Amino acid sequence: MATDVLIVGGGGREHALAWKLKQSPSIGKLYIAPGNGGTRLVGENVPIEAIDFENLANFAEEKKISLTVIGPDNPLAEGIVDLFRLRGLRVWGPTKAAAHIEGSKAFAKNLMREAGVPTAEFEIFSNHDDALAYVRELGAPIVIKASGLSLGKGVYVCMTLAEAESALEEIMVQHVFKKSGDEVVIEEYLDGQEISIHALADGKDFVLFPPSQDHKQVGENDTGKNTGGMGAIAPVPWVGAEALKDIETRVVRPTLGALAEHGAPFSGILYPGLKMSSQGPKVLEFNARFGDPECQVYMRLLKTDLLDILEASADGKLAGTKIEWNTGFAVNIVLASGGYPDAYKKGFPVTGIEGADKVPGVVIFHAGIAIQGGNLVTSGGRVLGVSAVGDTLKIALDRAYEAVELINFEGKYFRRDIGAKALAQ
Ligand SMILES: Nc1ncnc2c1ncn2[C@@H]1O[C@H](COP(=O)(O)OP(=O)(O)O)[C@@H](O)[C@H]1O
Ligand SMILES: [Mg+2]
Repeated sequence: MATDVLIVGGGGREHALAWKLKQSPSIGKLYIAPGNGGTRLVGENVPIEAIDFENLANFAEEKKISLTVIGPDNPLAEGIVDLFRLRGLRVWGPTKAAAHIEGSKAFAKNLMREAGVPTAEFEIFSNHDDALAYVRELGAPIVIKASGLSLGKGVYVCMTLAEAESALEEIMVQHVFKKSGDEVVIEEYLDGQEISIHALADGKDFVLFPPSQDHKQVGENDTGKNTGGMGAIAPVPWVGAEALKDIETRVVRPTLGALAEHGAPFSGILYPGLKMSSQGPKVLEFNARFGDPECQVYMRLLKTDLLDILEASADGKLAGTKIEWNTGFAVNIVLASGGYPDAYKKGFPVTGIEGADKVPGVVIFHAGIAIQGGNLVTSGGRVLGVSAVGDTLKIALDRAYEAVELINFEGKYFRRDIGAKALAQ
């Protein structure tokens, strides 16, 4: 019997999930709420916002949806999975208690300390004077984080004491992140390259994905402000099987174990961001969902039926599951609006997607793009994800950048060095 699926969310990640689910032999109707201009091409967009749980649950009930897949962090942190389960609706993603590992950096750090998971040395503060004294004692470089969800803007990597003091001022005195800044994590600065790990879990068992690498900073050579992510590659050629095993043993397994012990077994995607430091892997943070753009490259490489493994994860039946991946590499280049991650203008016509889509190995995923009077226009900071696969990382990158050049909109910005470090290594 065909399986009807509802995907919640409307970014590049959700377009990639929809694109992949559409290829499943057992997919029935596919709905995306609210979706975007790209998801409309593979399924039916439903005008309900990702945070409007009641109406999403009503819709799932009414349409007899067999599986609802939650993409973004916010609804998970607010307990959408708990509500769906309460109403007897089958849903994929972590409960509110399990998603707390992303929603509270303070909770995640304490859990890591308790479970012996390698992470930066830290202290947690809720009082500005105490935090300031600690920062002055430790000196720069130092990292200051608002504990709660802050749209990827709550982390200050401070190279000077003055920067650290002004970060504390913004978070704890001006309350720029509101309640998200009530607790502040102050931690040791870590050196090394950053990678993303994704583990698909079902509350008891888990399966690791290949390692991937995002490029967080807006400028080339990793300079400038942090963004939601400017491009990704997978797998990461210098992260071997042994390193991955080490991360599984020292990070993923003990973290999932500790969550279960806390009465919050995790199902869905657990995504630790790691620094590969000279002293081995160290966790920067945990996310409780797919990374975006990482999800886009994973969907390009995944060989196994996505619907099968999401159902197994939702039903607690992952034990013994093998996930198969295509050989070669997948990459993604984010096309952003000029000015992002600061203020930017919207509403510029976007052209050239059709031609770009025809470059061998290329698939374009939509994010901040809308339809206005029948035309595609920019509507967000990250506009499109240009993904490509290839037998080598170099081939995949060349294809993606060829497609990038064919797409145009006013203020189009992208990094020209996605994957460059991995290529040079
Ligand atoms: N201890 C640290 N040392 C060096 N860089 C860090 C450290 N913690 C975070 N960062 C940098 O800041 C970015 C954002 O931090 P992260 O904890 O992932 O928060 P979020 O993704 O919620 O903004 C990371 O991707 C990393 O580049
Ligand atoms: Mg992060």
